[in-house]
Amino acid sequence: MASATPPLRIALSRRGYPGVDDVALPAGAELVQPEEGAVTDAAALRALAADADALVISTPDRVDAEFLDACPRLKVVALVAVGFDNVDLDAVRERGVVVTHTPGVLSDATADLAFALILMARRVLVPAVDTTRAGEWGAFDPQAFLGLDVAGATLGIVGYGDIGAAVGRRAQGFGMTVLQHSRSPRPADGVAEAVGLDELLERSDVVSLNVPRTPETAGLIGARELDLLGPRGTLVSTARGGVVDEDALLAALREGRIHSAGLDVFATEPLADAADPLLHEPRLVCLPHIGSASVETRTAMTRMALRNVAAVLAGEQAPNVVPPLRG
Ligand code: 8YV
Repeated sequence: MASATPPLRIALSRRGYPGVDDVALPAGAELVQPEEGAVTDAAALRALAADADALVISTPDRVDAEFLDACPRLKVVALVAVGFDNVDLDAVRERGVVVTHTPGVLSDATADLAFALILMARRVLVPAVDTTRAGEWGAFDPQAFLGLDVAGATLGIVGYGDIGAAVGRRAQGFGMTVLQHSRSPRPADGVAEAVGLDELLERSDVVSLNVPRTPETAGLIGARELDLLGPRGTLVSTARGGVVDEDALLAALREGRIHSAGLDVFATEPLADAADPLLHEPRLVCLPHIGSASVETRTAMTRMALRNVAAVLAGEQAPNVVPPLRG
């Protein structure tokens, strides 16, 4: 007698993806999630995925050849993220595993956060909030918390994909002049003027990084680039850690070679050491990688990831397969 087919197992790297119950999955498929309160480290994730047919992961989870060899049933790795630098694409493709991501649905939330960083950094809002909360709002001082204008400034967007373009649209509402630099040419959109990277840095008051992390973008912004931006310049990144040289950024801030900065992403995440110098630089705003962290956006991302899983498990083309890396 033939043995019964085992149920399809869909492993989730975290508990609490909003919208996880909203998508119709293949009949009999079971969702496998970590225990309540468990933080899934690499070993726990491997154990969870060992006999899974599909794996749903987030940005902190790494998938490489060794991981895949420990999870031989996997047919699909579905990211609840647009960036996929945490997945070894060659290793997954060699094993015939499909990798999907969640483009588009998080562009507005991430662009909103880029603008939050721009306003917080340029208008020196973190020290202002800290002082007010501490009950230290003293007599009016014309010099206190003096920032620089966002309205009317020039914004340079490095990486003009979906998120970069959403940042540009917001900048129009602030009456900003918008420049953009992209590796692949983008059609003129009436919002941003396309320029080279050095020209963008020289002409901009504010620079927003919106590139993916690739070998080409690693260390893209270092001391030389920060000096081109100059002492009245603000740099923000909602892209990926490692695109900015953090030591060079700290030095530029300390020496007043740029005005301010805001980072949502770091070379090492989480930034969990309270003594980390990045957390103590007054003109640097640090956020814990929350570009997509709104209820609506995370729900849309989770649904999209699970629709991709459902398609692959049904033997269909997944709607959001990650594009091949451009060589
Ligand atoms: C994170 C992101 O994935 O989509 C991306 O590429 O960086 C974010 O949406 C998310 O915050 C979970 O870490």
